[in-house]
Amino acid sequence: MTPASSLLRTRPSAFLDDVLTGLARVQKSIPPKYFYDEHGSRLFEQITQTPEYYVTRTELDILRGFAPEIAMLCRGRTVLVEFGSGNSAKARIFLNAAPWIDTYAPCDISAEFIAEEALALARDLPRVVTLPVVADFASRIALPEVIRSRQSAALFLGSTIGNYRPDEAVSLLAKFATTLGRDALLFVGVDLLKDTAVLERAYDDAAGVTAAFNLNLLRRINRELGADFDLDQFTHRAIFNPLESRIEMHLVSRRRQHVHIGSRRFAFSSGETIHTENSYKYTVSSFEELARDAGWRPLQAWTDAAHRFCVQGLRRA
Ligand code: AVJ
Repeated sequence: MTPASSLLRTRPSAFLDDVLTGLARVQKSIPPKYFYDEHGSRLFEQITQTPEYYVTRTELDILRGFAPEIAMLCRGRTVLVEFGSGNSAKARIFLNAAPWIDTYAPCDISAEFIAEEALALARDLPRVVTLPVVADFASRIALPEVIRSRQSAALFLGSTIGNYRPDEAVSLLAKFATTLGRDALLFVGVDLLKDTAVLERAYDDAAGVTAAFNLNLLRRINRELGADFDLDQFTHRAIFNPLESRIEMHLVSRRRQHVHIGSRRFAFSSGETIHTENSYKYTVSSFEELARDAGWRPLQAWTDAAHRFCVQGLRRA
């Protein structure tokens, strides 16, 4: 699956502002949503195919294995909302298991991408009407009345929640509660805390796909913002930060160097990093606590046999 942010077509000035602001910080940083230009989205798809990146494959296994059980909780609900739909592969599993759902509302920033998926879905599942909601799920969105007036189940999958700091994740889940209205159900894909070596390998695969994905950010900045990053002078690093319970991805400067973007010049010391992504890891109970803080009541958590990942079912408190 492609995460929602992959499809973000941002105003170039916002990209420039975010990069200039991020590189001016003491700890240089760039928001992870900018990974997903065309090449970056392709690289992400490749990451999901690496043996080390268990996330996508494990979530799909959980959804397939427990689809009937998950669907049973959704009896009587006729609308499926998906935040950050990307491709609709995971929603299809759900829609196949819950034949009473007749409306699918993917909420994604890219109208084009949603339209393509909607066409494919209409062909494969003709009973389901797709009502795309073109919006950034992280901002306050109003679902159309036809959706709001009916009881819905919603999906927020792929560990996208992991990109947010816990306090931001609480606000985001609270926003979903407001958006969905009374009695909503929400199923969230959450990556679980596990052995550090397993986590770090998942974000630093042997084939170097994740490294290429991280470095592609600099290539994009060069191309779109006219910067002069020398890609050979930066390396990929993924480390688990146990205090924050997150994987951090960084781009590490191999030496003392300067980089130019327009009239701005940024100095890097040897070993200095640009922090490009956080991916928070939870236990089932730490995530349940977070969800409660956001006004949701945990119903059930479905996990794989190795407890690598979980799909957490929530009902509005
Ligand atoms: C798309 C945010 C869920 O954090 O696992 C994968 C992104 N970055 N490998 C994740 C990602 C490097 C991914 N999410």
